Amino acid sequence: MILPVILAGGTGTRLWPLSRDLMPKQYLNLDRKQTMLQATVSRLEKINSLPPLVICNEEHRFIAAEQLRQIGSLDHNILLEPAGKNTAPAIALAAFSALAKGNDPLMLVLAADHVITDTVAFKNAIEKAVELASENKLVTFGIVPTNPETGYGYIRRGEPVRTGFHVAEFVEKPDRVTALKYLESGEFYWNSGMFMFRASLFLSELKKHRADIFHACELAMADVDPDMDFVRVNKEAFMTCPAESVDYAVMEKTNAAVVLPQDIGWNDVGAWSSLWEISKKDANYNVHHGDVQDVECTGNFVYAENSLVVTLGLHDSVVVQTKDAVLVAAKDQVQNVKSVVQKLKSLG
Ligand code: GDD
Ligand code: MG
Repeated sequence: MILPVILAGGTGTRLWPLSRDLMPKQYLNLDRKQTMLQATVSRLEKINSLPPLVICNEEHRFIAAEQLRQIGSLDHNILLEPAGKNTAPAIALAAFSALAKGNDPLMLVLAADHVITDTVAFKNAIEKAVELASENKLVTFGIVPTNPETGYGYIRRGEPVRTGFHVAEFVEKPDRVTALKYLESGEFYWNSGMFMFRASLFLSELKKHRADIFHACELAMADVDPDMDFVRVNKEAFMTCPAESVDYAVMEKTNAAVVLPQDIGWNDVGAWSSLWEISKKDANYNVHHGDVQDVECTGNFVYAENSLVVTLGLHDSVVVQTKDAVLVAAKDQVQNVKSVVQKLKSLG
């Protein structure tokens, strides 16, 4: 059986000022239809699976629960972390929780903050992944790279296996020169950040490569505190767990990984420019959300939360208005929003 495990504990700072500590990216309603978390759960409707398990930060429990309730999907527990320790511990908690219930499911690990436009291709990809994951493989979903992006993991394909390839090499977030080399080689895929593997296989690989994370998570799940819709992991044990992403902790080190190349309309919406790229544009290549008026403008992304925003003779820019902060940026600079936010935080 497939257990969807939805990772919803990230911060998404590059979508500031909409994405905040109290309302990170995955809980935002960017297309004014559904929040990213709701879209992630809804995408699973046509897939025969167990109810999804959502893992998030204690601080966001009511937001997560309310959003799941809105789409009629609160028939399951939400695992709460007292602090974010990145994705390796989060996935380990999910695996221990499944085993504690006497199951050893194929976990379909999904980020709560990605856009996937082709749900049919997504369903097909899951079906192919099941075959490989059932044969004791850690399945990654590869995306054909289009630029030397440094915020992604890169996967070099090895020998073919069924509908995919053995992973010859997994490199998380290479520098730009390396990323360019990988892109030009034609042998690499981006790691989409979705995975499928059996819970017990993930844990045995984690134990092999990061026994410290394995043991801290085992302890944290051995003594949980169920509370209505939520399950709180043991704080004392979890706080001793090192913070590390699954990519560094397991995927770069394991010999059991395979990659399934995919074309599912994937976008991780890492910055405002990605949102412009995936949105429907008007005749002048502008994307507007909310009460926006423009004159002689091209190539802009403008988001007005609760006031009229007027742009005049503005090109290739991003304007995001929220009730207490406004971002105005050149579209090719928006990757740097992250460092601006860090600076703002350090200033208090
Ligand atoms: N529960 C929980 N706890 N979830 C977390 C935590 C945590 O501490 N940290 C991050 N997440 C969630 C995020 O909300 C997101 O849904 C997902 O895990 C991935 O985390 P990111 O922080 O967004 O990772 P990334 O974008 O830097 O890199 C990953 O995704 C890329 C594709 O978007 C890696 O897997 C890369 O290899 C990959 O290319
Ligand atoms: Mg991400």
